[in-house]
Amino acid sequence: MEMIEVEDYQEMSRVASQFIIEKVQLLDNPVLGLATGSTPEGVYKQLIEKRKQGNVSFANTSTFNLDEYVGLDGDDPNSYRYYMNEKLFSHIDIPGENTRVPNGMKKDLEQECGQYEQLIKEKQGIDLQMLGIGLNGHIGFNEPGTSLQTRTHVVELAQSTRKANARFFDSLEEVPEQAITMGIETIMASREIILLVSGERKAEALDRLLNGPVTEDFPASILQTHPNVKIIADRAARSLMKK
Ligand code: GLP
Repeated sequence: MEMIEVEDYQEMSRVASQFIIEKVQLLDNPVLGLATGSTPEGVYKQLIEKRKQGNVSFANTSTFNLDEYVGLDGDDPNSYRYYMNEKLFSHIDIPGENTRVPNGMKKDLEQECGQYEQLIKEKQGIDLQMLGIGLNGHIGFNEPGTSLQTRTHVVELAQSTRKANARFFDSLEEVPEQAITMGIETIMASREIILLVSGERKAEALDRLLNGPVTEDFPASILQTHPNVKIIADRAARSLMKK
């Protein structure tokens, strides 16, 4: 894992968006893995800005999001489909059909998971996956205890994750109990990964990711075994890092 030390959230967003733009400009049909949460919002703002300036086109880009809540429609402001449309897709020139987010409204969720894997396979896999990290080390919605051999699957959200994400909802009760997420193996199959870490509240998670053992108890630790991971971490997130 390569560590890229940045000063703050702004710089993290700039650097990460630069990696994404370089990939999009380099490949004929780039396939990006995208994330939600507070962490990547700044990256999406940068990408929109660069698109507006005419520096990059996403016309040939395909995207796969990491995860989606079960039971939330794409029109629900708390769904990740809505988030992606609002914060990125509707402001750039990517064709709508090239943007994929798991559908948590499908009756047969297992089938949806299988189809998602199939679609990724048809695109020859993900060139660049952007990740955030949960306080408990989750990546996507792969909670502690998830087998490292999982593909896209349905998960029960940890109570701590529901609490952490309740800030986006009116109340904790409204936070869904299940989600669909790319599995650990799906994420690990990406050719390149950038993990964004910002803020003091993520310092412990970053320390554990860098210095802890590879274990299912802390899913992000598996990234230690991936050949091409860049961690972009700001000063506050690095505050617990050993010199
Ligand atoms: C969420 C998402 C993850 C995200 C993480 C951190 O629950 N499922 O993909 O990386 O938690 O979120 P944030 O960036 O808001 O801290």
